[in-house]
Amino acid sequence: MELLRTELDLGLAQPVRILQVSDSHLSACCEEDSEKAKTKSKKKTAAFLKEAGGVTQEQRFAEALELAEDYDALVLTGDIADSPSPANLQVLAGMLEGRRYLYTFGNHDYYTYDSDSGKAEDRERFLDEFLRFLPCDPTMDSMEIGGLDLVTLDDSLAQFSELQLEFLKAEIAKGLPILLFLHLPVYSPTFAPKAYEWWESSMSVGTPAEVLAAHNETDPKMPAQPATLAVLELIREEPLIKAVFASHLHFADEAEVLGKPQFVNEPCYLGSVREIVVK
Ligand SMILES: [Fe+2]
Ligand SMILES: [Fe+2]
Repeated sequence: MELLRTELDLGLAQPVRILQVSDSHLSACCEEDSEKAKTKSKKKTAAFLKEAGGVTQEQRFAEALELAEDYDALVLTGDIADSPSPANLQVLAGMLEGRRYLYTFGNHDYYTYDSDSGKAEDRERFLDEFLRFLPCDPTMDSMEIGGLDLVTLDDSLAQFSELQLEFLKAEIAKGLPILLFLHLPVYSPTFAPKAYEWWESSMSVGTPAEVLAAHNETDPKMPAQPATLAVLELIREEPLIKAVFASHLHFADEAEVLGKPQFVNEPCYLGSVREIVVK
């Protein structure tokens, strides 16, 4: 495994070591899947395998989980599954059993091959299935460790909700320094050109309207809604929020966003994870 390394000095009594793993994109299928889903699963598995030089996504994810044993905390920031097929959910539940971790949804975790979509109703539909084996809530959750508060918020549909805004305020009220974990990064001009080149999207939350317009990005889910703007403003204003960690782009980026350092992870299926050491 290749380690991206981030070190933050927050004056903790003891260092806390966190492993961030994202975008493993498990894409298994099984007999009970439809023909369409099976075909798509095989096609995508072959493409991931080719890109990863012959190492399967499952093998990479297993390596990452093994590595996580040496860390104080594990945070999974989405797209762990490429699709929530029964086979993938079974593999995931098995691999994650008995572990303590945070998991936030990525857009692929609820993306179905059958409908070729990952909409809000798909997220709603699969939430219960994930909650059956996850020890945490993939829409928002937190973990206190060594005087730090690790907070996950699901922004996989490029928005935050009122509930998440209230949740973040309650986390801030604990008075601990916060590391915020997302799937979509907060918009930054440092990665936007490459994101548009690779994905024809800004791939981020809080993309300014003029940037969306300049790239003819007309997806109605993209313009930031009031609750999203309020969460972004809170990130900017709140001194206890120390850094943002995201993924989704499938390439690394480091930038200051909203006055805070933001670190974007590389995908696990390509053998990369992020080590975060907080002192
Ligand atoms: Fe991804
Ligand atoms: Fe994603």
